[in-house]
Amino acid sequence: MTTLAFEAVAKRFGGTVAVDSVDLSVPSGSFFTLLGPSGCGKTTLLRMAAGFVLPDAGRVRVGGADVTRVPPHRRGLGFVFQSYALFPTKTVFENIAFALALRGDARARIAARVTALCRLVGLHGLEDRYPHELSGGQQQRVALARALAPEPPVLLLDEPLSALDAEIRLRLREEIRRIVEELGITALYVTHDQEEALSISDRIAVMRDGRVLQAGSPSEIYLHPRHAFVARFVGTANTIACRILGEDRVQCGDRRLAVRPNGHAGHAGPTILTWRPEHGSVRTGCADPAALPGRLVGAKLPRAGGAAAARPGIGRDGPGRAPGARLVRGAARARSGAVAGDRPRFRDRSARRRTDGTRRCLGCPPPGRPFSGSAP
Ligand SMILES: Nc1ncnc2c1ncn2[C@@H]1O[C@H](COP(=O)(O)OP(=O)(O)O)[C@@H](O)[C@H]1O
Ligand SMILES: [Mg+2]
Repeated sequence: MTTLAFEAVAKRFGGTVAVDSVDLSVPSGSFFTLLGPSGCGKTTLLRMAAGFVLPDAGRVRVGGADVTRVPPHRRGLGFVFQSYALFPTKTVFENIAFALALRGDARARIAARVTALCRLVGLHGLEDRYPHELSGGQQQRVALARALAPEPPVLLLDEPLSALDAEIRLRLREEIRRIVEELGITALYVTHDQEEALSISDRIAVMRDGRVLQAGSPSEIYLHPRHAFVARFVGTANTIACRILGEDRVQCGDRRLAVRPNGHAGHAGPTILTWRPEHGSVRTGCADPAALPGRLVGAKLPRAGGAAAARPGIGRDGPGRAPGARLVRGAARARSGAVAGDRPRFRDRSARRRTDGTRRCLGCPPPGRPFSGSAP
C-alpha cells in the first residue's frame, strides 16, 4: 500500500525549475530516500509533501487522499530539518511536548509519551536541559522525538545528519532507521550522500535537475543503473562509450562484448557501458577477443582487501581513462554477487606502485553477469 504519492508534481521558482513533473509512490512502512546532488529539487519535493510549498501542478496524496491544498498542520506528518529548528527557550521536555500540548492532550499522557520518546531516541535523563546545553547529535535527537510525538504516519527528514560529524552521523543514521522500523511508520529521507542512502534505505529515488531518473531498491540502483548519471553518482562506476548491437551485445572500439540485457536493446546506437570495480578482474597477457584492453592506473580494494580495479581505454581518451594511459591487451572475467561490504571504500596507492608498468587489462563479463548498459 502507498502511504505517500506524488503525481506529476512540478514547482518553479521564477525561471528555475526546482521539481519537474515527478511521479513517485512511497510504499507504506518503507524507508524511502531522495538522493541527488545539491540543487536537484530534493528539499522542494519534501516540502511539497509537508505542505510548506504549494506545487504549481500535480497532486500530493497521503493515504490515498489528495492533500495538495491541505495546510501542513492538517496533514499530520512529522518533519525533521537539517538545522534542528528547536525552540531555544524551551527544555527538551517542552520541545518534545509542544505539539501534544497544542492539541490539548492531558498532562499525564504528555508526560508518559515524552518519557517513552526520550528512551526511544536516547535522551533519557536530559529532559530538563535547554538546546544550548546539548551536542548537535543530541539536538537532532530532540528534533526527531518532537517530530515523532504526535505519532505521524509519515516522517519527512531533510538531510538531518549533514550538520553532524562523521562518527555521530554513522551512529544516528542507524538509530533513525531502527526507530522508523520499530514504530512501523513510513519515512521519506533526503540526502546527497550516496553511501548513506545505500546503507539505510528500502528504496531510493535518484534525482537530477528536478526529475527522478530512477527509483528502486539499493541493489537495483547500484547493480542496474538505467542512466549513466545514476551509475556515476551512486558508488564508483567504470564507464565506457559503446554502441548497442542487439539485446545482449555491444561494440566497444574493435571489441564485441556480451552484456546482460536490460531493456535498452531498442535504443540501437551510441550508449554507455558501465560496471562496478568489484565486478571486473584484471589479467595480463590474455588473448580473449571479448576482453577490454587497458592499462591499470590505480586500484580500489574492498574493505577486507582483495580485488583490484582498473580503468579501460579503447584506443583514445574516453570516459574513465586516465590521462597518459596506454593501451595493452589481455582479458579478465567478471565476478558476480556484490554486497554492501564488497563495495570499494578506499584507494590503495601501493597497488598502483606495485603494478605500474605491468601489462594489465580489464575484461568484460560473460552473458548473464551483473553488468549494465546505461542510456546516456
Ligand atoms: N524559495 C526558493 N526561491 C527560489 N529558488 C529556490 C527556492 N527554493 C529552492 N530554490 C531553487 O530550486 C532548486 C532546487 O532547490 P532544492 O529543492 O533546495 O534542492 P536540493 O534540496 O536538492 O539541494 C535550486 O536551484 C534552488 O536554488
Ligand atoms: Mg536540500
